[in-house]
Amino acid sequence: MSEVSLLKQLARSLMTGQPVAASDPHRLHWHLAPPVGLLNDPNGFIQANGRYHLFYQWNPLACRHGAKWWGHWSSADLVHWQHEPVALLPTEEYEINGCYSGSAVQHDGKITLIYTGNVKYADGSRTAYQCLAEELPDGTYRKLGPVIPLPEGYTGHVRDPKVWQHDGHWYMVLAAQSAELTGKVLFYRSADLTEWQLLGEIAGAHLNGLKEFGYMWECPDLFPLDGQDVLICCPQGLAAEQYRYLNLYQCGYFTGKLDYRQAEFPHGEFRELDLGFEFYAPQTTETADGRRLMFGWLGLPDDNELVQPTIKYGWVNSMTCPRELSLRDGILCQQPVKELQQLRQGTGTDWQGSAEQAPELAAVSAELLIDVSGTFSLSLRDEATLDWDGECLILTRRNWRTGEQESRYWFGSLRSLQLLLDSSSLELFINDGEACMTARYFPDPEKQTLHFQGAGTVSIHHWLLSACV
Ligand code: FRU
Repeated sequence: MSEVSLLKQLARSLMTGQPVAASDPHRLHWHLAPPVGLLNDPNGFIQANGRYHLFYQWNPLACRHGAKWWGHWSSADLVHWQHEPVALLPTEEYEINGCYSGSAVQHDGKITLIYTGNVKYADGSRTAYQCLAEELPDGTYRKLGPVIPLPEGYTGHVRDPKVWQHDGHWYMVLAAQSAELTGKVLFYRSADLTEWQLLGEIAGAHLNGLKEFGYMWECPDLFPLDGQDVLICCPQGLAAEQYRYLNLYQCGYFTGKLDYRQAEFPHGEFRELDLGFEFYAPQTTETADGRRLMFGWLGLPDDNELVQPTIKYGWVNSMTCPRELSLRDGILCQQPVKELQQLRQGTGTDWQGSAEQAPELAAVSAELLIDVSGTFSLSLRDEATLDWDGECLILTRRNWRTGEQESRYWFGSLRSLQLLLDSSSLELFINDGEACMTARYFPDPEKQTLHFQGAGTVSIHHWLLSACV
């Protein structure tokens, strides 16, 4: 479709849809969500010339997946974001079924996007091109076309390029499905972002000691952190175990050391990045002050996604809060970025004592720091609970599709919790980010508080959070 006709549809969708989305009682107060339509992966996360840019997979025309566009926000502080002109629309033959996920780098002073052009055929098959687009002075993007066609020996599922610079060269990790239908991560090098050489497969099923490990790995990201290299990826097709791999698709990481010359990445075991219900396709960037930050999609591509209550208000899905990454004893830890403290209203309130006696606290848009000793449980707006029995922390919520209770688990020695709440999302950081649990939930808007129970003692610091989007 032509750009003009797509832009006309966008204008109509925004003008009629934005007031409706804004009237949703579950509309988020401080998380990034699409103005209308469906959002999925974070893309092109970068800090350039002092501003953060976050692009995203967007279908602004309907609450379903389809020919994706790239939406674009920018921010000076990671908290207050401004929507920028749409960066990419699927107008060309090589991307006609979607400008799929990718990343951004700064090249010759301009933000350059590397993304997947997705093309589907009538017989159900597909192909993919890795493409470039560069920033123009007015903040829009000019497409430079495909730079990598489908590599031989893979199905049409080749996508999600993540590019970085190292020792004067550009490198890329790219998700791929082998002809044998196994998930792989391809590794490329380029001198100029245009000519790319495939160096090999650096990770995937049947590599580095892994056996069967899924039929596709989406959205790889590889970066140095605290003396090691971390590969994040989203394997699809892992069988659920009693306490692991409980979501339809997984998102996790390996740590190891990338050998740029041999194109090898010997790595340790796979660990899940988030033990909650909705977390997928995260992307990281390095900031000017040397922090490794990450946004995830606070969602998951499965059938619960497209029956969320927000869809009747014309929008669906959101980003997680921005998180800072660090490695502690080989574990990838996540903590909300310090900039989010701007949202705290005043100095907050403190309370300490038996969980049984703790006061009810506002929970629609709030942050809690909780030090724990002994067992307790926490009911969140009568829609989700958190139970600590001394060995296992269990997050339970009502599934909005089936109406049934469902749980996720963390085992360890619990010291502290940080809980970030928005009107229909919760993000839980355990022991200063040693583990995370992230979820959407859709409480009755009238139910606005949380309350504690149990034999243990808790020390609570509670803040209301201001709205910022
Ligand atoms: C992950 C994903 C990517 C793809 C994009 C399409 O959620 O499936 O692999 O590029 O979403 O929107």
